[in-house]
Amino acid sequence: MKEKVTKILKEYSQEHLLDYMKCLNKEEQEKLEKQILNIDFKQLKELYERIKQNQDLESKIIEHIKYTDKEKLSEKRKEELEKIGSKIITSEKYAVVTMAGGQGTRLGHTGPKGTYILNTINGPKYIFEIIIDTLKRAQKEYGVTIPWYIMTSRENNDETIAFFEEKNYFSYDKSKVKFFKQGELPLLDISGKVILDKDKKIKEAADGNGGIYEAIAKNGVLDDFKNRKIEWIFVSGIDNILSNFVDPILIGLTIEEKQKIASKSVAKTNPKEKVGVFCKMNGKPKVIEYIELPEEMAEERDENGELVYGEVNIGTYLYNISVFENLADIKLPYHVAFKKSGYLNEKGEFIEPEEPNVYKFEAFIFDAFSRYDNMTILRVKREDEFAPVKNRTGNDSPETAVKLYNEKFNK
Ligand code: UTP
Repeated sequence: MKEKVTKILKEYSQEHLLDYMKCLNKEEQEKLEKQILNIDFKQLKELYERIKQNQDLESKIIEHIKYTDKEKLSEKRKEELEKIGSKIITSEKYAVVTMAGGQGTRLGHTGPKGTYILNTINGPKYIFEIIIDTLKRAQKEYGVTIPWYIMTSRENNDETIAFFEEKNYFSYDKSKVKFFKQGELPLLDISGKVILDKDKKIKEAADGNGGIYEAIAKNGVLDDFKNRKIEWIFVSGIDNILSNFVDPILIGLTIEEKQKIASKSVAKTNPKEKVGVFCKMNGKPKVIEYIELPEEMAEERDENGELVYGEVNIGTYLYNISVFENLADIKLPYHVAFKKSGYLNEKGEFIEPEEPNVYKFEAFIFDAFSRYDNMTILRVKREDEFAPVKNRTGNDSPETAVKLYNEKFNK
């Protein structure tokens, strides 16, 4: 094993680990060696080399994507769609997935983001509890207990499960709640070297919410969907506390439009808002980030004065199960973020940097949409369905999210 490890480290310029290994005891060395053999250093090298290359959007054709505005549907139309969607829910063909594998560094809470407490008009509530409240409301309305799957990561999985055990699953049927772990990738410092963590192993972090496709296929979740005869799966993040994830109109519309993937959107408030919006790129559905959208396109309006690229991605998606079957082996592109991360220095001291010091590679869930020719987009009211908890203070913080929550539940 040792020779193989040495060869890999030399080949990929990670020899600093060899020096480091000399200071480890036998057991620690073996653990690290085992981890090294499990890491794809070739892929890491390619990711690092790609950091410096700019993505060229010039050759890409960007077009508007069609959407339906929920507010503009007639009562009759809403009833029709609701009927189709409700049938899926009441016949137990519906499941919900919450992506909770992120690190939540911007919020800075120690522990999984779902264990953060918000002081709402309904009392102090953990974010996970707010999601369960939504599931319980659906339980009352449709008379079924919707299966709930929570995607975690190595870093927060045990803590997340322990939290639910301690809180007795907030009295939701425990047999309907399942946890599954997503994959991870090593972090790289600015010279492309892997770093070490407190546990004397290479520091790895969740590989972005795009890891969901592989995680669902690999961890028996897809089989579980099939065993339960689930057909439609709603996926959203842990951080939108108003996510309305049991929405028969969305299900009905997607089925009627004969699509396999759908997403909700909210209207962009102004051309400069820093959000990703839906569009079609080279004929396929795509979320384009604000930095990628040319200014004149961001400003473009249609004959009704609406922004042509104005459907904001709020991270709330609906999938037909066939998508998870088809995309089980999908290889999504990785996006790079420069982040702060503690590491062991060569003297074995743990350093907490003041400034970002590592590259983190993340795949995005929505990059898979371009594998399909089209998707359903349902525009909903921002104040009804979008209250993100991202930052510690300011925009999209616990304060702004609680305000929106209180306004909604005070009605
Ligand atoms: P964010 O992009 O907000 O990332 O994730 P984050 O890691 O939670 O937070 P920061 O950037 O460090 O502050 C959007 C959603 O995707 C999930 C998050 O848990 C959140 O629900 N996510 C993100 C994962 O499940 N896995 C990941 O690897 C990344």
